[in-house]
Amino acid sequence: MSAYVIGGGRPLSGSVRVHGAKNSVLPILAATILSGKESEIHNCPRLSDVDSSFRILRRLGCAVRREGDMVHIDSGPMAHTDIPDSLMREMRSSVVFLGAIVGRFGRAMMSFPGGCELGPRPIDLHLEGLRRLGVVIEELPGGNLRCHTDGLAGTEINLAFPSVGATENIMLAASIAQGVTRINNAACEPEIEDLQNFLCAMGGRVTGAGTSTVLIEGSQNFRSAKHSIIPDRIVASTLMACAAVAGGDVTLEDIEPKHIGTVISTLCEAGCEIDIRDNALRIRRTGRLRSMRPMRTLPYPGFPTDAQAPIMAVAAFAEGTTVFVENMFDSRYRHVGELARMGADIKVEGKVAVVCGVPKLYGAPVCSTDLRGGAALVAAGLGAEGETVITGLEHIDRGYECLQTTLSGLGADIVRTED
Ligand code: EPZ
Repeated sequence: MSAYVIGGGRPLSGSVRVHGAKNSVLPILAATILSGKESEIHNCPRLSDVDSSFRILRRLGCAVRREGDMVHIDSGPMAHTDIPDSLMREMRSSVVFLGAIVGRFGRAMMSFPGGCELGPRPIDLHLEGLRRLGVVIEELPGGNLRCHTDGLAGTEINLAFPSVGATENIMLAASIAQGVTRINNAACEPEIEDLQNFLCAMGGRVTGAGTSTVLIEGSQNFRSAKHSIIPDRIVASTLMACAAVAGGDVTLEDIEPKHIGTVISTLCEAGCEIDIRDNALRIRRTGRLRSMRPMRTLPYPGFPTDAQAPIMAVAAFAEGTTVFVENMFDSRYRHVGELARMGADIKVEGKVAVVCGVPKLYGAPVCSTDLRGGAALVAAGLGAEGETVITGLEHIDRGYECLQTTLSGLGADIVRTED
């Protein structure tokens, strides 16, 4: 079992480039199915979730080849339309392949994606939207979805909730439907805009991404396309949290500051000095961290749920009390118990976590419970007194490319041991 071993108490300094966004590249990899042509995706991060997507694309019959941070996909040879349960279980967001597969081939078979560490992950909004487009979806005993259509027709879809995944799934199917689809109450995340840009590069006609109304005019003529993935705003937020906890002077290169506005203002309130220059951000922290205003996680551009855990690690060291309200997922406080093992003073009641900052946390053996919770433990370990050993790295590897290399490059005492 691999583990991070962190010697806390060392400030960070230097600059680091933020890699491409996991939550952008995953739907874009699914979108490459639509064209039946070649796609070149640049700034593609090396993550286990990306590898899972490659396995799905190859299982469907696509040719996938990585050359450095570029991945080349040819979906021309694609001949299968089913994703086996084993691959669906590797990554629950594989459901985003459904719209593209059924859109291009008129049929698809996959298992219901399981829940995950964040609690149940329903896909009712995905299925409702695809049914509105003309997909017949049978929910078979044993948890399989059998889908087929005689042809997708554009329509108006009102999302009950601005679900990121449902918006993406509908965009993919609508891109190859006959006629125009209007998604109302669409998710506004930057990753939706990145998907729109890739679809348009392939010859799709999509507008409105980044707002709550997305218009998609179906196309039958897609072409080969090149695209570069936007920077990962959650990795940027996580590295800022690490710098805030450890102290020091860190510059993040190749980021999009406007994608992390709420996190920037939160860390400024905590006492960090943050300077922004074009697509770079410099964060410094010298004095003691201060508590922050109540943080409610919300759909973009509200405070991102994916940054809740890393920022909670900051709050754990801050002078004063910080209140978190997790509105997006039912069970996204599983890192609290592990932070408490390090001496954090956190009380959870339903959606609410009350963090009473303490002057010091202490290194301890802890285990990642999920992707962002694991990142929070890394941040806490950087500031803790003594040694922290973090297991469960398979969670962290899903969304952070070589996190220990990045942090040791900034002066952290962190190594990855492989048993
Ligand atoms: C995406 O998940 C991200 N994952 C998540 O990042 C992120 O936390 C989330 O959006 C919110 O920003 C990817 O993009 C791969 P949602 P997604 O559909 O699409 C409920 C990370 O750490 N819901 O916006 O699954 C759902 O249960 C991951 O990188 C339904 O009820 O998020 C949740 O409570 C974690 N029915 C809420 O909506 C549905 O059909 C938000 O889900 C779909 C969602």
